Amino acid sequence: MKNEFQKSNRVDMMINPANRVKSIQLSQIRKMFEVCSENAINLGIGEPDFDTPLHIRQAVIESLDEGFTHYTSNKGILELREAISKKLNAENNIQKDPESIIVTVGASEALYMCAQALINKGDDVLIPDPGFLAYDAVIKISEGNPIPIPLKMENDFRMSAEDVENKITSKTKAIILNSPSNPTGSVMNRAEIKKISKLAEDNNIFIISDEIYEKITYGTKHHSPGEFTDNAIVINGFSKTYAMTGFRVAYVAARDDIIEELLKIHQYNTACASSISQKAALAAIEGPQNCVDEMVGEFKRRRDLMVGRLNEMGWECKSPEGAFYTFPYVEDSQEFISKALENEVVAVSGKAFGKAGSEHVRMSYAASYLEIESAMDRLEKINI
Ligand SMILES: Cc1ncc(COP(=O)(O)O)c(C=O)c1O
Repeated sequence: MKNEFQKSNRVDMMINPANRVKSIQLSQIRKMFEVCSENAINLGIGEPDFDTPLHIRQAVIESLDEGFTHYTSNKGILELREAISKKLNAENNIQKDPESIIVTVGASEALYMCAQALINKGDDVLIPDPGFLAYDAVIKISEGNPIPIPLKMENDFRMSAEDVENKITSKTKAIILNSPSNPTGSVMNRAEIKKISKLAEDNNIFIISDEIYEKITYGTKHHSPGEFTDNAIVINGFSKTYAMTGFRVAYVAARDDIIEELLKIHQYNTACASSISQKAALAAIEGPQNCVDEMVGEFKRRRDLMVGRLNEMGWECKSPEGAFYTFPYVEDSQEFISKALENEVVAVSGKAFGKAGSEHVRMSYAASYLEIESAMDRLEKINI
């Protein structure tokens, strides 16, 4: 027998997914790959073209042979969290014991967890503009409001404490920092990070610090707000540093009361990161680091090639101090992107990363040196 509610004409109504998700776009970057032809050179992708170093792959084979294929503790295997704790202390001057660390399914999951655990409906979260696409999306999924902080090319796209201070209101709950930055490659300096950390403390604001490109710098050292304030939630991982994007492994470190809330999201979302990926991460963090130096050295060579060629062609391009992207000024990014595609080069419109990026394009130099050379030859044919 039908109840009153079922008898109503609800059956005629469309059943719709949640509005907060419907308002979000799928990644523009992924879309670009779908339209490009087989001969196209893809400078759109944000992942190193190197093979994962051998000793890391071997650790996975060993873990499989040992039958290490079951759930791990929710926070991740203790050995890995101990190694991360040591690393944070030695390299970042951050004191977090293994209990204050959660191993996550990529920095992507860590960002999602932070948004879910920290943001209430209607909270404002300051984000860099241009900035990584996921920031806007994860905040909206949590029904928060992303508030862009526009970054300027004349300041090398660096966020200053003054930029942050100007945007803080009573609704500001958190700020996302990303240094080195995707898409601009800018690296924030220590003094500015210290000032922003003080602002966060004075105004009771969380800092979500995405440090995934920490090791990919070309002379400028990375610094973390985790050194200065306990309001900082530090996100770092293995995807970019060790060419391990497919392993989906990263971590988050924060003070204990925040970790407890983050763990709830992690536990009910993924239970734990993949057991064998955690073993791979352990081999990466404890093993020889010369593989990282070699990759960064090669990125630098490619960066110099790309920046040099773009400037020669008249596309104004700063030499980025970190990550593996250039972000040249092209005036009309849409026109540039379509002309580049006609010449079989895939780049991403700066607009995808926020309004302040709309006159730029992002080109990744995680493609090979030879590919970059050919791509630049092809771009030389563009006339706008
Ligand atoms: C700034 C930034 N944060 C986070 C991520 C996600 O990294 P992961 O592969 O660890 O999920 C990316 C990937 O492109 C990124 O560029």
